Amino acid sequence: MTDAELANRTRLRAEHPIRFHGVHHLALNTDDMKVTVDFYAGVLGMRLIHAMKVPPGLGVGPGNRGNPPFEEIRHYFFDMGRDGLLAFFEIPKGAKPRGDRNALGAMQHVSFAVSPKTQARIRERLEANGVPYDGPMEVLPGVFSIYLFDPNDIRLEFSCQPSNGEEEPSIVPQVTQTRAEAMHELTSLNGDEAWLAWATSGLKP
Ligand SMILES: [Fe+2]
Repeated sequence: MTDAELANRTRLRAEHPIRFHGVHHLALNTDDMKVTVDFYAGVLGMRLIHAMKVPPGLGVGPGNRGNPPFEEIRHYFFDMGRDGLLAFFEIPKGAKPRGDRNALGAMQHVSFAVSPKTQARIRERLEANGVPYDGPMEVLPGVFSIYLFDPNDIRLEFSCQPSNGEEEPSIVPQVTQTRAEAMHELTSLNGDEAWLAWATSGLKP
């Protein structure tokens, strides 16, 4: 990348800022919506907030916009906090194979942000329902997680930051590195000084 291209990127970032507001919805697949509702709402305590079937004409044919290729399947939504939705499509049983979460293009896992007390309550609920989990373990500085599989073999993680107490965790500040810390790794990716200066411009000095 040329210096001019990098300068243009920096100017665009300053003049036309892009703001992300978290995840609107994360869409996953199940082959049993009842089991999924019982797990997410019943075991985990995540509120079901919308239940529908995908309108006809969107599954197969030109109306499909990226959703599963089946007509009028169930599509339910849960409140996963921070004004974000966890969505499920119900794939007809046997119509698709189990996925490989380590395959390219697959979702490896998803971590939900919780408080320490909520993480402890989730552990109690998992134990009461016989759902095995790993952890808690420190996965990033000050971030402690448990890991488990949902009934669809989707890997879930619940992360808490005890330094934030029971308040909503302050995730990005907790994980943001200094330039020097990030540079330790980034120089293994690209040795170009101008690129490194640009890539680290969002980090702590
Ligand atoms: Fe993770």
